[in-house]
Amino acid sequence: MRIVKLGGSVVTDKARSLQADRAAIRAIGEALVRHPAPTILVHGTGSFGKPYAIQYQYLDGRFDAEHVDRYLEIRDSLKELGRVVARELTAAGLLVAELDAYHCFDRADGALSFAEPEHFALLLERGAIPLLMGDLFVCPRDGYRVVSSDQMVVELAKRYRPKQALFLSDVPGVLHPATGELLPTLSPESARELDGAAASDALDVSGGMAAKARWALDAAAYAGACWIIDGRDSAALEAALSGESFVGTKIETGGE
Ligand SMILES: Nc1ncnc2c1ncn2[C@@H]1O[C@H](COP(=O)(O)OP(=O)(O)OP(=O)(O)O)[C@@H](O)[C@H]1O
Ligand SMILES: [Mg+2]
Repeated sequence: MRIVKLGGSVVTDKARSLQADRAAIRAIGEALVRHPAPTILVHGTGSFGKPYAIQYQYLDGRFDAEHVDRYLEIRDSLKELGRVVARELTAAGLLVAELDAYHCFDRADGALSFAEPEHFALLLERGAIPLLMGDLFVCPRDGYRVVSSDQMVVELAKRYRPKQALFLSDVPGVLHPATGELLPTLSPESARELDGAAASDALDVSGGMAAKARWALDAAAYAGACWIIDGRDSAALEAALSGESFVGTKIETGGE
């Protein structure tokens, strides 16, 4: 089993609102087809989610009639991206099953957990590739909540213990906040340094690389190997999928 997160910075053009990067999605699909394995895919929302957060502020925590229109508008946008990603991956030759994250993850008590619906297991048995997306949930306890696709990877890894968990972004890996150099490995200590440097990354709903690094550290505890790599670098992706060496940041287990 492998779990691959297609970052919002790969599936969309982050500089342009509501712009999917079809070619990048297709290329990742084709690489996955060349290296067949049981797979779960999760993707981020990039420029289909962020403009709304900026325009409307976060809906996080609110839940009243006034915000229903905004909620629906945001979800329409996210679903539009979900459909583009599903279509491009299908065109690349992957048997994707595009699923609604709300039906796969539970957040009733405020913490996210994989709900392990029966259909999920059945789809995997049939050789399908479940495809999920970061989303805005309506939570019974605390209203609208952005649910990060990175966190979904952690919950899926907890359940499926994949050989490989790959976070694809648009940077070669985690870069040193001061020097910009690629960190070949990331430990809980080096992640803490990132936290300090990330305060200016205010426009990123899900916290950019610092947040991703934290989720990746969590995921690494449940995966044979966990990496953050550049999903736009076809050589790196190809090598990662075929088990050769590649450029990226290897995430070391947190080890409580
Ligand atoms: N120290 C750092 N190393 C690498 N990238 C960093 C760092 N600090 C900030 N970043 C930014 O974080 C971005 C990656 O985080 P981002 O949340 O955009 O990724 P994503 O997972 O592809 O998108 P999404 O969250 O929409 O799925 C990079 O594009 C980079 O601009
Ligand atoms: Mg992010």
